[in-house]
Amino acid sequence: MKKILVTGGLGFIGSHTVVELQNEGYDVVIIDDLSNASIDVIEGITEITGISPMFEKIDLKEKSSVEHFFQKHNDISGVIHFAASKAVGESVAKPLLYYENNLNTLIYVLKEVLNLKSSNFIFSSSCTVYGQADEMPITENAPVKPAESPYGNTKQIGEEIIKDTCKVNANLNAIALRYFNPIGAHSSAKIGELPIGVPQNLVPFITQTAAGLRECLSVFGNNYPTSDGTCIRDYIHVVDLAKAHVVALQRLLEAKNSSNFETFNVGTGVGSSVLEVIQSFEKVSGQSLNYKIAPRREGDVVKAYANTKKANAVLGWEAKSTLDDAMLSAWKWEQNIRNLK
Ligand code: WQD
Repeated sequence: MKKILVTGGLGFIGSHTVVELQNEGYDVVIIDDLSNASIDVIEGITEITGISPMFEKIDLKEKSSVEHFFQKHNDISGVIHFAASKAVGESVAKPLLYYENNLNTLIYVLKEVLNLKSSNFIFSSSCTVYGQADEMPITENAPVKPAESPYGNTKQIGEEIIKDTCKVNANLNAIALRYFNPIGAHSSAKIGELPIGVPQNLVPFITQTAAGLRECLSVFGNNYPTSDGTCIRDYIHVVDLAKAHVVALQRLLEAKNSSNFETFNVGTGVGSSVLEVIQSFEKVSGQSLNYKIAPRREGDVVKAYANTKKANAVLGWEAKSTLDDAMLSAWKWEQNIRNLK
């Protein structure tokens, strides 16, 4: 069995990707510093797949710890690198924390990947790199715009670091996956999104409001130039997103990549407004949601949804779940963790 390292593997997208890797027969080792994830996620993964992944609690900002790990695990066939801080608002308030945590860790891991026999690297990037793209749907050739936040900047710089390293290391093969908006949870409701504190993202705020943890959802602006005045995003089921990582990894393991640095948009290709997401939730849950219209949120782009042709045709992957599927899975997860069923 090929051994795959998943950094940040106890996080929302990381844990779902570990499940899909184990389902495909890979031997997974997780590194996580538990700064934004619970050790209990290992139990959830194990209950789903019947396989308990290897786990090491490591702070990837400690260069020596990273070196020591790779000395022990020099038989790794591929690395999927999720480990990063990802709260846009927090990154504005604490830029150095984000540059240190998101970039130093990438550099230390990448240095070790270069020394592996097979240097295959999948990078967790984001549609944030496009800022407010001029054309919808957004293609991978859309210009990378000045980042709207230090978080977004770390994804842009991260891609540049990998690209420049690939240019002078032919043995390094990398793919950057530019996520749109990951939502939902595994159908078992044993793993899912568990934001710490007040959720910054729309869908966990919706499900926590419906669960009674939050009083009311604020819709940040309804006077945007869109059909119903609210912002439009491409909400992709986290399991579809996880499967994209397995397909991307297999592309590198089978040396099917056309260059040693590739980027793919990973979305559904469908744009949904905030009000449409709320309507979807109310339909699948049978509950009406308490929400109000509030002022716009600083830094929000009006529209962002993916042109998925490249991922469909070249990667051979496409999203299967609808917005309703994803919202129902998010609600089932919320009900499970709050013992509401
Ligand atoms: C979606 C829409 C809000 C909360 C961010 C990051 C991106 C990625 C996904 C990591 C927007 C509106 C939200 C609320 C609301 N993260 N909203 N009330 O901002 O598109 O993307 O998360 O990779 O990098 O930028 O996601 O869920 O925060 O917002 O009205 O309480 O929901 O204004 O229009 P976003 P989001």
